[in-house]
Amino acid sequence: MNGKLAKVMNEQINKEIYSAFLYLAMSDWAMQKGLKGAAHWLYVQYLEEMIHGQNLYRYLQVRGDPVELAPIAKPEGAWNTLLDVFRHVLEHEKLVTASIANLANVSQDVRDHAASIFLEWYVTEQVEEEGNATDIIQRLQL
Ligand code: FEO
Repeated sequence: MNGKLAKVMNEQINKEIYSAFLYLAMSDWAMQKGLKGAAHWLYVQYLEEMIHGQNLYRYLQVRGDPVELAPIAKPEGAWNTLLDVFRHVLEHEKLVTASIANLANVSQDVRDHAASIFLEWYVTEQVEEEGNATDIIQRLQL
């Protein structure tokens, strides 16, 4: 793969695993508050984010590019309410959406059609993730 594309794809692995850690921290916050349903939902997001990272990892390998793993930052967040948690979820997913859009742009810039098609799944997934967070925020606000 083009070197720049492989670099941003490696960086995206880190972002997906960071997202997983963030959801895991949020899940524990909810569990400590006795909000078991929210804790479960957030834990499932953790599992999904790990798969998002793993699929990028596998894709780099299938394309014959080395995986470069970097340290995962400590997930940051101080939440007072479940609404704070989900506002943070939405804000975070918007950052991920921008990062995926950049990755898709790079794949198009270097005319890597196979990578562009692979990344389409991530583009679509981000629409769903922002939509789910928005729905939950609206319900919590009622
Ligand atoms: Fe893998 Fe929530 O983005």
